[in-house]
Amino acid sequence: MKPDPIRIAPSVLSADLERLADQVHAVEAAGADWLHVDVMDGHFVPNLTFGAGMIAALRRISGLPLDVHLMVERPEGYIEPFADAGASAFTFHPEATRHVQRQLDAVKQRDMRAGLALNPGTPLAYAEEVIDDLDLLLIMTVNPGFGGQRYLPAATPKIARAAELLRARGSGATLEVDGGITNETIAAACRAGADTFVAGSAIFGATDPGAAVHELRRHARPGARA
Ligand code: DX5
Ligand code: ZN
Repeated sequence: MKPDPIRIAPSVLSADLERLADQVHAVEAAGADWLHVDVMDGHFVPNLTFGAGMIAALRRISGLPLDVHLMVERPEGYIEPFADAGASAFTFHPEATRHVQRQLDAVKQRDMRAGLALNPGTPLAYAEEVIDDLDLLLIMTVNPGFGGQRYLPAATPKIARAAELLRARGSGATLEVDGGITNETIAAACRAGADTFVAGSAIFGATDPGAAVHELRRHARPGARA
């Protein structure tokens, strides 16, 4: 049986913005599957990044699906502008809104994948309650806000519990991990059941971002043929 495909999603948070188009083209040519776009508002996390303008620019630069991760308060205010800008997936944190299920529904109405992101300290139960509404479940493997942090080992058993939950409930949702994913940590997350891997510094911090995409894919399943 062929193993399930692995998705690599380079995070443009770590890209060199002066050379954004070149860097995006390099990872796209290397077979990156999605582009991960980290939106931070300076409130939900102590850092400030991109908005709809960046999503629209990436949409013009690249044909890859845009996997938008909102680390913002009140994500509901961004559903319309981000859909208009060309977002493909819209993933938010449950603590940031009062009506999680309603927002997941609204995201799907705009033909984006509806995703829920869980911080290291956030219980899986948040996802369990809305599992039938999820196209994507993102398990944070660091506390969000910054690139270049270390993978938290306690995330691995949580990924395994999330994979088991999705399986038991017959969900086809993507299981994504984000934070500290490197050639050293990707295999543990993959073995635990993740299928989609966000990586920022491991890709854009490398001399050759395209080669780094290949390396991550190779390290995800050591011993498996590419
Ligand atoms: C962290 C962001 C991540 C970040 C990952 O708050 O959500 O997507 O870009 O960066 P690395 O791979 O460097 O940990
Ligand atoms: Zn992210």
